[in-house]
Amino acid sequence: MGVTINSEPLIRCDALGVAYGAGFVLENVTLHIRRGEFVGIVGPSGSGKTSLLRAITGSLAAARGSVEVTRGTRIGYVPQVESVDWNFPITVGEVLAMTRTRRHWPRTTRSERAEMKEVLEGLGLHGLEGRHIRELSGGQQQRVFVARAMFGKPDILILDEPTSGVDVRTRHEILHLLRDLHSKGSTILLTTHDLNGLASHLPRLVCLNREVIADGPPRETLIPEVLERTYGAPLHVLEHGGMPIVLDHDYTSSEVLRDTERQMRSERESRQ
Ligand SMILES: Nc1ncnc2c1ncn2[C@@H]1O[C@H](COP(=O)(O)OP(=O)(O)O)[C@@H](O)[C@H]1O
Ligand SMILES: [Mg+2]
Repeated sequence: MGVTINSEPLIRCDALGVAYGAGFVLENVTLHIRRGEFVGIVGPSGSGKTSLLRAITGSLAAARGSVEVTRGTRIGYVPQVESVDWNFPITVGEVLAMTRTRRHWPRTTRSERAEMKEVLEGLGLHGLEGRHIRELSGGQQQRVFVARAMFGKPDILILDEPTSGVDVRTRHEILHLLRDLHSKGSTILLTTHDLNGLASHLPRLVCLNREVIADGPPRETLIPEVLERTYGAPLHVLEHGGMPIVLDHDYTSSEVLRDTERQMRSERESRQ
C-alpha cells in the first residue's frame, strides 16, 4: 500500500496494568504500535478496550508496567459516538475549531479556516462547516469527529468503537474512510467488537480480555482457540472469499454469508 512501517514504535505499552481503585482491569499488556500500522483491538464488552486507549492517551495512569509515547507524537482521539450529545447546539466548523483550545468561543484565523477546509474536503464533508451536527447522517457525524482528530495533524489516530451504533452502510463508509487514511500514511489504532464488518479487514488484531490473548493478522487471531479464550464462549469460524468469518450466537451461518456477500458486493461497487 506504499506505507512504510518504521521499526521505532510510536506507542509502547510494556507489562501494563490498569486498575480502577483496587481492581485490575488490564494486566501485563505488552503492545507496541509503529508508525504506519493499522491495528484493531477486539474483545467483549468490559474486556478493557476503552481503558487501554485511556491509558495510551494519558487519561488513566498505569498502575503497573509502563506506557510510553514517543516524544512529540500527536494523538488524534475519536470518542465513541454514543458518548456525544447530538443535541448540543454546535456546527461542524465549531466542532473542529474547538480543538484549538484556550479560546472561549471558536474564532478561527484565515489559515485555520483553510486547513479546516482541506480536512473537511479530504473526508467528503466540504461545504458542511455551517451545518448543525444533529442534521448530519450517522456516517457524516463519525466523519466530523475523525475530521476533528485530523485537524490537529496527528501522528496516530485512535478511535474507540468507530462502528458501534451505526447502520451497515455507515459501517462500510467508515471502513473505506479508515483504509483510505491508512493508505495515505495515517497510523491507526481502533477498538471494535465488530469482528466481521471491521476487524477481519485489518492487517493486525489484538485480542484482549484483561490481558492480550493474541496479536497478529486475522488469519492467526480470528481462530476458534483464540476467540474462545477472548470471548469465553465457543465461536465458529468459516472462511469465505479467503476471509475468516466469525459466527456469533445470534447468527445462523446463512445470515452471515448473506451479509458478507452483500458487503463484498457493495465494496466491489464502491471501487468501480
Ligand atoms: N470509571 C470506571 N470505574 C470503575 N470501573 C470501570 C470504569 N470504567 C470501566 N470500568 C470497568 O473496567 C472494565 C473494563 O471496561 P472498559 O475498558 O470500558 O471495557 P470495554 O471498552 O472493552 O468495554 C469493566 O469491568 C468496567 O466495568
Ligand atoms: Mg469500550
